[in-house]
Amino acid sequence: MFDVERLIADCRAAHAEDRTHKAVREVLARALAEPRAMLQGLGEPVRAEVRKLYHSPELTILNVVWGAHMTIYPHNHRMWGVIGIYTGREDNIFWRRLPGGRIEAAGAQSLCERDAVPLGPEIIHSVTNPIPRLTGAIHVYGGDFFATERSEWDPETLLEQRCESQSTLRYFDEWNRLHARRSASTT
Ligand SMILES: [Fe+2]
Repeated sequence: MFDVERLIADCRAAHAEDRTHKAVREVLARALAEPRAMLQGLGEPVRAEVRKLYHSPELTILNVVWGAHMTIYPHNHRMWGVIGIYTGREDNIFWRRLPGGRIEAAGAQSLCERDAVPLGPEIIHSVTNPIPRLTGAIHVYGGDFFATERSEWDPETLLEQRCESQSTLRYFDEWNRLHARRSASTT
């Protein structure tokens, strides 16, 4: 039986013992051994969203739901992260900096249900949900995800710009509105 409050308490305890991502990753990997139970405990995803489960200056725990075929532009976190997939798939492209503020693709990683994958603090990535249904993932960050100054890269020019957390949340809302309009126009 999955209990979200238990997961939050276990992540906080693990982080208090070990400030790196390692202990938190183990907690998340253990919880993901039963992804169906996690899905039931969190509730079946119904829309793209970023839901805060826990938030402090040292630790942020999010339930991130990607829309079908949704892609988010390259961005950084400037703190370690762990991504755990409890339903669906995520494809990550990793980018490296070039002189002049641009970036170039440097690698990729496909994440599947049950994966609990660490991301280093310097990582720049973009994320695609490659399947035609919602993907659900727990994201844990070793810091205050919403208060930290971060960057994003324009998806067309690949030039660096300031990332506002509120604009990321708006992106998910806009995606839902667009998706709802598309669904309405095809029925
Ligand atoms: Fe990210």
